[in-house]
Amino acid sequence: MDHFDYKNGVYHAEDVALDTLAAEVGTPFYCYSSATLTRHFNVFREHFAAENPKICYAVKANGNLAVLRTLAKLGAGADVVSEGEIRLAMAAGIKPSDIVFSGIGKSAQEMKFALGHDIFQFNVESEPELELLNFIAVKMGKKARIAIRVNPDVDPETHAKISTGQKESKFGIAMSLALPVYDRAAKMAGIDVQSVSVHIGSQLTKLAPFAEAFARVRGFVETLRAAGIPISTLDLGGGLGIPYGKEQPPLPEAYSDIVRREVGALGCKLVFEPGRVLVGNAGILVTRVLYVKRSENRIFVIVDAAMNDLIRPTLYSAHHEIVSVVPPAGDAPTELVEVVGPVCETGDVFAEQRLMKVPNAGDLLVLRSAGAYGAVMSGTYNARLLIPEVMVSGEKHALVRPRQTYEELLGRDKIPSWI
Ligand code: LLP
Repeated sequence: MDHFDYKNGVYHAEDVALDTLAAEVGTPFYCYSSATLTRHFNVFREHFAAENPKICYAVKANGNLAVLRTLAKLGAGADVVSEGEIRLAMAAGIKPSDIVFSGIGKSAQEMKFALGHDIFQFNVESEPELELLNFIAVKMGKKARIAIRVNPDVDPETHAKISTGQKESKFGIAMSLALPVYDRAAKMAGIDVQSVSVHIGSQLTKLAPFAEAFARVRGFVETLRAAGIPISTLDLGGGLGIPYGKEQPPLPEAYSDIVRREVGALGCKLVFEPGRVLVGNAGILVTRVLYVKRSENRIFVIVDAAMNDLIRPTLYSAHHEIVSVVPPAGDAPTELVEVVGPVCETGDVFAEQRLMKVPNAGDLLVLRSAGAYGAVMSGTYNARLLIPEVMVSGEKHALVRPRQTYEELLGRDKIPSWI
């Protein structure tokens, strides 16, 4: 459930009318609903009330400081993949003791930074990474608490580009190869083995792959314990899907039941890394129609947002629902249209053959479910400015990231004196 809906014929974010907001901040812009974020976090937490896990929000899904601060105040920790994300999490008020550090390419500098702040856990993804982490920790006189991210070889049944838990994937260490690595880690002076971590992919809409992966993790923890390696914590990653269109992802209660059934008996402290399920439906992208162009067999609705602002449709063929802020008049024709951006690429398409009431130039459209992997994946291709982000709470709204300026954009480049 989210807090974006029509009131008196105008699409609102909570109690804020989006036509008024668009007039104030200009288009395109992202808009986040604080009530939706809060609700999603609380629902996730409530279903694990008995376990009281660490809920380490995956910062990569949306790293805006206002989003992070909202979640931090609710008690979220952070799952991070770079020094930048550690800095963001801490700037938002998340304690280092609630931060887990994932990713296959942590640099020495990033390890030093994280160790210096004594973060909760490193999720180690290879043997060379383990060796470097140990080396650095010993030099700093520290112990790095770790999980090894195991790859259970389970098909998450999601888009290929966001599948991470099969043997062809670059992520984690194959479960079949991980025991000797744990054995080595347990003997390292700078390493404190505490956990096993797993994350098989994103936007999972079925429960079975989770169940399969968690069952394999349970078997592996039993093997580790039998080998004398104590495991006190389990990091079960993120990956829960959201409804973008017609898909029906597992309900939180079904997910928590599976977790309990598969790993409950291990008695481990649980860590989760949800991203999309917390923020995906808490954000929208608001854009204005520039032109409607009719060609021989297509109707192009050309909007002012583009693939540089929201890359998901072109990168993952992702579906985002599109609604009009003020629906076109009742007699507007309903037709199949292409909703496209101004970028000079054929792939700059938000929706193909979408059945909708044909909007008019000047109308405002909303791409729903854009809170996760939206603004964070944006860029300045075609020298387009990064767009603003607005957060709404009830009747209040605030610009939580202003539109980039041309001075900022041009100021990044330097012309050497010898040209
Ligand atoms: N933990 C790890 C180790 C991850 O790699 C990810 C996401 C998460 C947690 C959070 O997953 P979530 O709960 O959000 O599914 N840009 C893509 C999604 C990339 C996901 C990357 N890893 C998209 O727009 O669909």
